[in-house]
Amino acid sequence: MQNETRVAIISEADIVTARQKGRSLATELGFDGSDLTVIATAISEVARNIVVHAKEGEIVLTPLTHGNKRGISIMARDDGPGIPDIDQAMQYGYSTGKGLGVGLPGAKWLVDEFAIASKIGKGTTVTMGKWL
Ligand SMILES: Nc1ncnc2c1ncn2[C@@H]1O[C@H](COP(=O)(O)OP(=O)(O)O)[C@@H](O)[C@H]1O
Ligand SMILES: [Mg+2]
Repeated sequence: MQNETRVAIISEADIVTARQKGRSLATELGFDGSDLTVIATAISEVARNIVVHAKEGEIVLTPLTHGNKRGISIMARDDGPGIPDIDQAMQYGYSTGKGLGVGLPGAKWLVDEFAIASKIGKGTTVTMGKWL
């Protein structure tokens, strides 16, 4: 199994690619059923945020192990404008664009681990983990 899958995110088509690669890595790792949909949905949201709010970036998918626990790590990173107030951005319904403002809180709710690091003018990194 490959250690890391990177998908450059610039367009809507790349969101679909990231989603598919996430789904196939998750399948290899032993996820099934609704977990695959959950993982694909979380990937879509952070990838879409790159396209909409940062223009370009990448998704990095990596297998996780902790003792005999296995999982998947999903990292979305960009060199976009950054998020001035992360607590506000995490609020359900908050959007600076035309979105519904449910992408980040929705993704957080779907995964087991969720963290955002962001610096104004430097970019944003969202890291998520989902365990089997
Ligand atoms: N990668 C990013 N770069 C800059 N700002 C972001 C990024 N991701 C999210 N944001 C900010 O956080 C807000 C909330 O994101 P989200 O919950 O996905 O809602 P939406 O994308 O519908 O606006 C966005 O409106 C935007 O201001
Ligand atoms: Mg969004």
